[in-house]
Amino acid sequence: MSIYDVECVKGFIRMCTDGWLQGWHERNGGNLTYRMKAEDIEACKPYFDAQPREWVNMGVQADNLAGEYFITTGSGKFFRNVEPDPIHSIGIVEINAKGDSWRIVWGLADGAKPTSEFPSHFMNHSVRKAATNGENRVIYHCHATNVIALTYVLPLTDRDFSRALWQSATECPVVFPEGVGVCPWMVPGGADIAMATSELMKKYQAAIWAQHGLFASGPDFDITFGLAHTIEKSAEIYWKVLSTGKPILQTITDDALRAIAHDFGVQLNEEFLD
Ligand code: 13P
Ligand code: ZN
Repeated sequence: MSIYDVECVKGFIRMCTDGWLQGWHERNGGNLTYRMKAEDIEACKPYFDAQPREWVNMGVQADNLAGEYFITTGSGKFFRNVEPDPIHSIGIVEINAKGDSWRIVWGLADGAKPTSEFPSHFMNHSVRKAATNGENRVIYHCHATNVIALTYVLPLTDRDFSRALWQSATECPVVFPEGVGVCPWMVPGGADIAMATSELMKKYQAAIWAQHGLFASGPDFDITFGLAHTIEKSAEIYWKVLSTGKPILQTITDDALRAIAHDFGVQLNEEFLD
């Protein structure tokens, strides 16, 4: 047995590989965090370092994440290297009792640190945990190519992106009936972008960072990866249609969107329908 046999660690590493294989993680692009369950912590604890590292203040704070443990990708680390070299690429951090600092208890070997987007992940975890009665456990940031490209040609509104994505693949309104949030271009890696994104995540399961990428959330790795995959696939279809240069002769009408929502038993965000 090793820590790499623990289910949540296996699932975390697999998701990193899946994202790499999709082409969403050039160089060190993207990051992933998982809020561990009590049983995950128990299973991993025997492999924790004898001495945890120093507490580091995050610049953001959340009461509802005090004392939690997260698996996180490392800053500057490549998703491509997570599977062959996990000890240098990922780690586990503990959050202090004030909910404002982390310390490394396993992994991130030889001086590595959690992702520079840890403040955004942390605040997104906080709001998604509250919004889902504790169900949400995964926050995933990827540089999804077609989603990023759309932020150059569509108005940067939640409504424009939600409608374009819903209309480009019939399953979309079922997978994200509330739509998606859009964050204007901001400097990555700090408290400001963390607060702006977490405001959006109060309403949405996913948020788009203009000219940068996508944030997706979910209760487990499958659902979260599936959400990112669905959004990116829809954006790809939209691009293929635009790229023909032909006029759009038909799309999924608002009445059709309502009919999908009715039959699949989901509540569509009416603000985005005409
Ligand atoms: P990290 O290498 O610090 O995770 O940053 C990558 C990234 O995508 C920043 O938005
Ligand atoms: Zn990024």
